[in-house]
Amino acid sequence: MGRKKIVAGNWKMNTNLNEALALINDIQKGSKQFSQVEKIIFPPFPFLKNSVDSLTNETTFYVGAQNCSEHIKGAFTGEVSAEMLKSVGCIYVLVGHSERRTFFKESDEQLILKIQNALKNDLQVIFCFGEKLEERKAGRHFETVKKQIENVLKNFSETELNKFYLAYEPVWAIGTGETATPQQAQEMHAYIRKIMSELFSNTLSQNMPILYGGSCNAQNAKELFSCADVDGGLIGGASLKAADFCKIIASF
Ligand code: 13P
Repeated sequence: MGRKKIVAGNWKMNTNLNEALALINDIQKGSKQFSQVEKIIFPPFPFLKNSVDSLTNETTFYVGAQNCSEHIKGAFTGEVSAEMLKSVGCIYVLVGHSERRTFFKESDEQLILKIQNALKNDLQVIFCFGEKLEERKAGRHFETVKKQIENVLKNFSETELNKFYLAYEPVWAIGTGETATPQQAQEMHAYIRKIMSELFSNTLSQNMPILYGGSCNAQNAKELFSCADVDGGLIGGASLKAADFCKIIASF
């Protein structure tokens, strides 16, 4: 048995409630025949419960949250806890997205706390990381990714990591229209597997789904997904158009 095939849509701060529900409906219709692919959407917080409720009959289509607080509960105005996400039916949570790291200055220490809270509430973590343009230009992309993975994941056990997915999202490819080439993606994904094997075990590393994210779209998904170590995509912009997202789902 090979690894799972996964297509995840990170909607970021887009859609209103009606648009979100219409998008889900259209994705459902357009992706019905692809039951071998796990579909995950990450709508904004206010639409999570409605999203979960509209997918109750689905067995390969799940809802996740784009973030969770590093705090458990209490006087943290505006924050959303892992327990809250679990209580509305979220299965997944993204941790470490580059937009959270950059705009909200999330540190490795915060990411560790977020993951601990997610795990306590039985949420499955999709841990995101990736190098910036200047790091790639300086030839430090492998070193950067290694540190991002090690600093956070070394705090968790192999048993805990069994339920993780990883998402390699080079910052220079996010929202820029400049996708990593299949060679660049494959090379980094194979390297990530090597790091995971050294940190944990070969079994964990071989079983772990690793998604690619960064200007992945209906045109380039097929080539990216055909790489041996690319198990799917974490899609931003193209996940907001049902037809494009379904075409990506159909790309395996
Ligand atoms: P784009 O697909 O818009 O480049 O975004 C990727 C991303 O950040 C997914 O989390």
